[in-house]
Amino acid sequence: MTSKKKRAPVVAVDGPAGAGKSTVARKMAERLGLLYLDTGAMYRGLAWKALHCGADLRDEPNLEDLLQRTTIDLYRQSDGTNEVLVDGKSVTNMLRGPEVNASVSLVAGVRGVREEMVKRQRAMAEHGGVVMDGRDIGTFVLPNADLKFYLTASLEARALRRHKDLCQLGYDVNLETLSQEIEHRDRLDSSRAFAPLAQAPDAIVIDTTNVEVDRVVDDMIAWYQEKTHD
Ligand code: DC
Repeated sequence: MTSKKKRAPVVAVDGPAGAGKSTVARKMAERLGLLYLDTGAMYRGLAWKALHCGADLRDEPNLEDLLQRTTIDLYRQSDGTNEVLVDGKSVTNMLRGPEVNASVSLVAGVRGVREEMVKRQRAMAEHGGVVMDGRDIGTFVLPNADLKFYLTASLEARALRRHKDLCQLGYDVNLETLSQEIEHRDRLDSSRAFAPLAQAPDAIVIDTTNVEVDRVVDDMIAWYQEKTHD
């Protein structure tokens, strides 16, 4: 009798900006020996390129065409985060600034852009062994993921986290303005017609507002072990 080899597990992590997805998804992947993939960085990579080449962000066909002519590769860095290469050039440190923050939801709202990104993301997860974080991973990109998490946190906690990240990167930003930007971005991400930010019905919901990162990761790993236990 031949036994079919099981595909390595696939984990989806979704939620709004600043809910802690990338930190916990990266740590979870590291502890389980899985590959962490940050899909937001792919949309940020395209937004960066569009800004860099002066593209009109309201011209949807042009953005779709731009993506067709753009390679976006994610590589694992020694700290587990993703290095982002756009057309072979590392742009990792240019993706978190105010310009990209302000334009990425527009780029991510273009249906043709999403269709192409989703195709690429599914190809990355084809052989399993990944923890993928984004907005539509459990609902649309990988609906058959072995395990799905939806992370939430209060707007105040999310804004404080993003503020701390940006200050560490050397950006001088006002907390109140940042909070309004996050709210605006969440609204755009949740209200777009195609593959919006949404909680999958079978996702495990974790509110990270007052919980330490390592506690959240411990919980996620406990769920993982329960789900993948034969
Ligand atoms: O996770 P992030 O903040 O780096 O995401 C950047 C933007 O990309 C954000 O506006 C939501 C969007 N995004 C998306 O629409 N779908 C994904 N799978 C990942 C991110």
